Amino acid sequence: MTDYDKVLSPTGRQLHESAIRRMGTVVARTADLVSFAAGYPDPSTFPWTDLREITNELLNGSDGSTLQYGPTRGYKPLLEAILGVLQARGITAPLEDVIVTSGSQQGLDLVARVLISPGDVVLVELPAYTGAISAFKNMQAELVGVRQDPDGIDIEDLDAVCLRERTAGRRVNLLYLVPNFQNPAGRLLSLGKRKRLVEWAERRDVLIVEDDPYGALYFEDVATEAETRPIRADDDHGRVIYLSTFSKTLAPGFRVGWMVAPATLIERFDTAKQAIDLTSGILDQRIVHQAILRGVIDRLAPALRDLYRRKREVMEQALHAELGDRLTWLVPTGGFFLWAKLAPGYDDVSLLERALEQRLVFVIGSAFYVDGTGHDRIRLSFSAPSVERIQEGVRRLASAMAREAVNSQ
Ligand SMILES: Cc1ncc(COP(=O)(O)O)c(C=O)c1O
Repeated sequence: MTDYDKVLSPTGRQLHESAIRRMGTVVARTADLVSFAAGYPDPSTFPWTDLREITNELLNGSDGSTLQYGPTRGYKPLLEAILGVLQARGITAPLEDVIVTSGSQQGLDLVARVLISPGDVVLVELPAYTGAISAFKNMQAELVGVRQDPDGIDIEDLDAVCLRERTAGRRVNLLYLVPNFQNPAGRLLSLGKRKRLVEWAERRDVLIVEDDPYGALYFEDVATEAETRPIRADDDHGRVIYLSTFSKTLAPGFRVGWMVAPATLIERFDTAKQAIDLTSGILDQRIVHQAILRGVIDRLAPALRDLYRRKREVMEQALHAELGDRLTWLVPTGGFFLWAKLAPGYDDVSLLERALEQRLVFVIGSAFYVDGTGHDRIRLSFSAPSVERIQEGVRRLASAMAREAVNSQ
């Protein structure tokens, strides 16, 4: 048999698999599994009727450009509509500063390819989104963690870590952040810190990669739209690369996201993207464009906020009822995730093994930490399962914790 290992490149050999994707394989194989693992939107929210109408119209015509290759930068009417979406979030940007990407995950990959040299330090939060960890590691970045406070990244620690790494002779050009309802910790970065971060990035000559898939999904009982104002909205120095997506506010199957950056960087991202996919799916882009134009996305947003807020409440109530003080958490004020701290004595990996025996899956906390810690945390996603499945999943978690406690005695 051919030894394929010997044909792998250094990059191919050390490719970083996402822990969450790996969980996906388990989900597909196990019958009657409750999944709190992947951060999928609730499929009942997909606006089927509108999408059917739009798609029918697009495919009923004979305009070849609907199914033709499109520009790498993106379908121009969609780019223009994105400028409107940005404006509503407080960001004013010219067309040259925007590129459509195949999901914001591709934006992270483009950032990594264009801006990271092997051995560069990228500063990330403790904990950080695994998809970003994978994209940066694939380009052989050294990921160095910065502590979080309840209101987001600890700026004193950030500065200390940056200076420490530079003093050790390393290049530090990038800070990666998810300011709105962070994946996984659900935290909302305070407005005061957002302002300070732009000043900090200017002072220390660092670029901030601001990843914002969840900003529109704030819970109206505990957060406001004003609190989700992107860092990019107050960046007058060209310090922020802003990424967002229609995955959580319309549907992830379209794979349509976008990136905002100074035009000179966008040109580089455009050139790199040419070699990856030539263009993001043009039919997807046209459907999303029509969904924006017809107000589908704007109409959907309040219902999504309400639905995910209710699901968070259901999960919290069930956890309080079933688990008492064996789990603690900071109430998420938006997004898809409840980030739970395990009582002393529990370990994320062995608890997951017990949970799988109960047909429950979640993501282990340590998957999100670049410093090898986080074994006292788990990420529970409440977005996709129904209310009944959330309650059932929490009952299974309680059984798993009871068995784990018995086992470790
Ligand atoms: C923080 C964060 N960034 C990026 C992504 C990728 O989203 P997309 O579907 O737009 O590629 C996700 C998806 O879960 C995410 O949580």
